Amino acid sequence: MKGYTAADAAAEETDQQQKLPYLMPLKPGRDTERIRLPLDFEDIVSEKNLFALLQERESRRRYSDEAVSLKELSFLLWATQGVRRYAGKHKQVTFRNVPSAGSRHPFETYLFIRNVEGISPGIYHYVPSAHELEVWEENGNYEEALAEALCGQKFAATAPVTFVWSVIPYRTEWRYGLKAHKYAMIDAGHVCENLYLACEAIGCGTCAIGAYDQELLDELLGFAPGPSSETDYEFALYVAPVGRKEA
Ligand SMILES: Cc1cc2nc3c(=O)[nH]c(=O)nc-3n(C[C@H](O)[C@H](O)[C@H](O)COP(=O)(O)O)c2cc1C
Repeated sequence: MKGYTAADAAAEETDQQQKLPYLMPLKPGRDTERIRLPLDFEDIVSEKNLFALLQERESRRRYSDEAVSLKELSFLLWATQGVRRYAGKHKQVTFRNVPSAGSRHPFETYLFIRNVEGISPGIYHYVPSAHELEVWEENGNYEEALAEALCGQKFAATAPVTFVWSVIPYRTEWRYGLKAHKYAMIDAGHVCENLYLACEAIGCGTCAIGAYDQELLDELLGFAPGPSSETDYEFALYVAPVGRKEA
């Protein structure tokens, strides 16, 4: 992991240097029903003081039975992967609420929803460009399968909503070659830390989850196995259950 010397760089010609086509930082949408997410969440942010948020942040594994509101979910998606602006002739660069090496943004966000106001339980995919949710599977009960995929961590599978971030390594590999793996992992930390702080700001809690069964979780989201250099290769990387804090 440590190694990447000037000699390594000289020996490697990245796909960008070879002028191979880049990947767009947004996964093409599915032709499914979509849910528009509100963007007027100023009124739900109850704590805006960064010092207080840093002091309060902790991993929370118990959640109230209350539903998470659509506005709260929308705020958390915006804070973690929301797009602020684009650059490039083909809008191929996104600038978001989290930093990312070379602004490659190699992640996609999936939600296992159990108790969000106005949304049927099921699996959803976030579309950052439109700030919408794609309905992937409605009315499913994934608690058991998700708990198994999360190595028996029931609290994470029974939360009102469970975020799963996948990584599409080629978005970053195209530019950074072997360095990409380190960068993508660093990027993931920013995303989850934003979720922690955004949760605290609206009275919710989360817990980073790195213990999962790769094959089971990938299977739940329909990701096919393959080598990371394939442009469409995607796998689950990081998980975070969210719920309202217990009173
Ligand atoms: C990469 C990563 C993976 C983690 N995986 C899990 C996990 O699978 N299950 C869990 O309960 N907590 C997990 N955690 C949460 C840590 O246990 C927690 O951050 C640590 O105990 C410190 O507590 P704090 O976050 O409240 O400061 C993970 C944290 C990180 C950063």
